[in-house]
Amino acid sequence: MHDLPSTRRTVLFGGLSAAVSMGSSETAQAESQVAETLIRRMSLEEKAGQLSIFPAASASTAAVAANPSSGAPETADEQAQAVREGRVGAVFNGSSPAWHRCLQETAVYESRLKIPLLFAADVTHGFRTVFPVPLAEAASFDPDLAERTARAAAIEATASGIAWTFAPMVDIARDARWGRGVEGAGEDVLLGSRFAAARVRGFQGTRGLADPTAMLATPKHFAGYGAGRGGLDYDSVDISERTLREVYLPPFRASFDAGALSTMASFNEINGVPAHANPWLLKQVLRNEWGFEGLVVSDFTGDRELVEHGFAADEREAARLALLAGVDMSMASGLYNAHLPDLVRSGEVPLAAVDDAVRRVLMLKQRLGLFDDPFGRFRPADAERGDRPSFQPLAREAARRSIVLLQNRGVLPLAKAGQRIALIGPFASGQRHLGGPRAVFGDPGYAVSLEEGMHAAMRPPAALAVVQGCGVETPLDGGVEAAVAAARAADVVVLAVGEGENMSGEAQSRTSITIPEPQQALIEAVAQVGKPMVILLKNGRALALGGTTARAEAILVIWHLGTETGTAVADILFGNHSPSGRLPVSFPHDTGQSPFFYDRKPTGRPTITGQTGEAYKARYREVRNTAAFPFGHGLTYGDIRYEALDVGGGKLPWNGRITVAATLRNAGGREAVELAQLYVRHRAASTTRPIRQLKGFKHVRLAPGASARVEFTLTRHDLLFVGQNLDWTVEPGLFDVWIAPSAETGLKGEFVLRAA
Ligand code: NOJ
Repeated sequence: MHDLPSTRRTVLFGGLSAAVSMGSSETAQAESQVAETLIRRMSLEEKAGQLSIFPAASASTAAVAANPSSGAPETADEQAQAVREGRVGAVFNGSSPAWHRCLQETAVYESRLKIPLLFAADVTHGFRTVFPVPLAEAASFDPDLAERTARAAAIEATASGIAWTFAPMVDIARDARWGRGVEGAGEDVLLGSRFAAARVRGFQGTRGLADPTAMLATPKHFAGYGAGRGGLDYDSVDISERTLREVYLPPFRASFDAGALSTMASFNEINGVPAHANPWLLKQVLRNEWGFEGLVVSDFTGDRELVEHGFAADEREAARLALLAGVDMSMASGLYNAHLPDLVRSGEVPLAAVDDAVRRVLMLKQRLGLFDDPFGRFRPADAERGDRPSFQPLAREAARRSIVLLQNRGVLPLAKAGQRIALIGPFASGQRHLGGPRAVFGDPGYAVSLEEGMHAAMRPPAALAVVQGCGVETPLDGGVEAAVAAARAADVVVLAVGEGENMSGEAQSRTSITIPEPQQALIEAVAQVGKPMVILLKNGRALALGGTTARAEAILVIWHLGTETGTAVADILFGNHSPSGRLPVSFPHDTGQSPFFYDRKPTGRPTITGQTGEAYKARYREVRNTAAFPFGHGLTYGDIRYEALDVGGGKLPWNGRITVAATLRNAGGREAVELAQLYVRHRAASTTRPIRQLKGFKHVRLAPGASARVEFTLTRHDLLFVGQNLDWTVEPGLFDVWIAPSAETGLKGEFVLRAA
């Protein structure tokens, strides 16, 4: 390895001093001087190179499998040569510190302009330590927790040289058939925005982007990706601008307000124009309206896909359209390398547009401290830990707080001793299916299985019998018989069933959001034995549980919880902690209700009783159009009562505030953490308003027998909506208000917003 000059930037740029030690305007000036000096010296090919990012030639099998093959430089030697020749500005999804370091040395010692590389990765829910999938973590309703896990992920990932994560995914997901809801924070705008901002803060840290543990965040996918037709991944989005602005854009805005300086264009088209070629989205909204100064990266071959969309005639046109629309950096396709120089020479793309994009890349590299110390993020002491996770206690806390208790007919918590437990199902043992989709950097070998976690908690451990019963999507010879025998011999059955970790995530749309059929047969057979049955539900989306709900005494939603799955589940199962998670997505009765979400619009013919048989009402023939388990729902081991709603006189002055309060009482015998939720409905406005919207949430810890008053404050700014002219507005009027344990229940009152 080469020796590292400590003032390398001085060597490169003839004495421009380190930006980090300056005031902010001087910093900006120095940053721009460095960028301008380089831009003047760069060839068009080198500029296209800075605007090109490729998958790492050295990456784990799991990381490679996260995307299709792109035809990019395949071998490590080819990639090093591309870096040497200035054809690459960034590389992603490698995780080997040694290889990253080697490639960085090639960039800063062997390329003509010595511009450091930017290493990126899909660090979505942990790196070596795998935290719960983002959807699960949203069930904690605690953005602070998400900030802490994102920080931990950044600390681990940056030690390998990674300075840029393609996360958080902030797409609102309202159609459970879509597989990628698992990567985001669920269906709600407020919850999604708070988690988006928290994750950005966590990834980037609070000490500035040059801090060696800071990892640039990329809220993605811009925009509307979750609204694809029929829940089908990559499919077209036909959406009103109002819905786009009210529902899908706010988490992005919240991310940028929290300091995110990059974003990724989404694969989908919006109203006929693909996001990768959409100047209205990438320029008008993002830059002109919001003042975003960061970088827009394409999704994986997203620019080339303009041809498949039928929007560009060929790859050359695709490159031109993408760059001109505002895609600064091209991922994996190589289209910018191949076509930008010629497009500039022929006058089809103005040089200034390319320079603007290059400027943004260089600016980010500078802000990340890469010019000052291209090796600053390689921290040998941390990297020496190898693949070992370093944040187990946090992983256990996050996993525990992500678990949602859907129903409990008195069977939970289980006693640790004195009874025989049969743990049955395809997820009962083993370390597969614990990390969830896109946990490509964590070694599953460090994860605690359900069997291990329960075994460790039980006295004596021998009272646990473990049987697989069936595969995730296939029956197993003799499996059901073995499961039935184990159930017969047990006092209580714990069934670990649901979706495998590869049944959600990218390109994993489903036509039926149910537990796979062989597992349903297993549940049915075991239920016939008649022992109390607890379901541990593995899932990366909302599921329609049908008959299973009636069969089980208790259901715990355990999603994909990561490294500490078994310990966290045991914590809840055996009552060391009361469950506190809440559903960040509504669980419908049936797939046919999709897309189903709680803050839908009223119709002119709402059902009165919610029953299926009402004539000439908005209803399905087969099921009530309510949730089986609503958004916000989740039980504790306490018995929480909501009492004494107080709407503060029922008047919200135009320039004032109103406090809405209620008393929460724990009438049960165990301590509990309750999540009180505030919902509002605007009864009549100039555009129709949802039947409920979440406006706040608060955790309240309640000892047995204890009461606490919970208060929420509202101002008119909490009541903004997108009006007829598509601007955010607020109108006086009458509002329903609830303090509630879920989106379909609670204490209801009303208040009036008075005109100024
Ligand atoms: C495609 C996915 O849509 C995106 O989220 C991810 O960051 C890239 N692949 C890179 O792996």
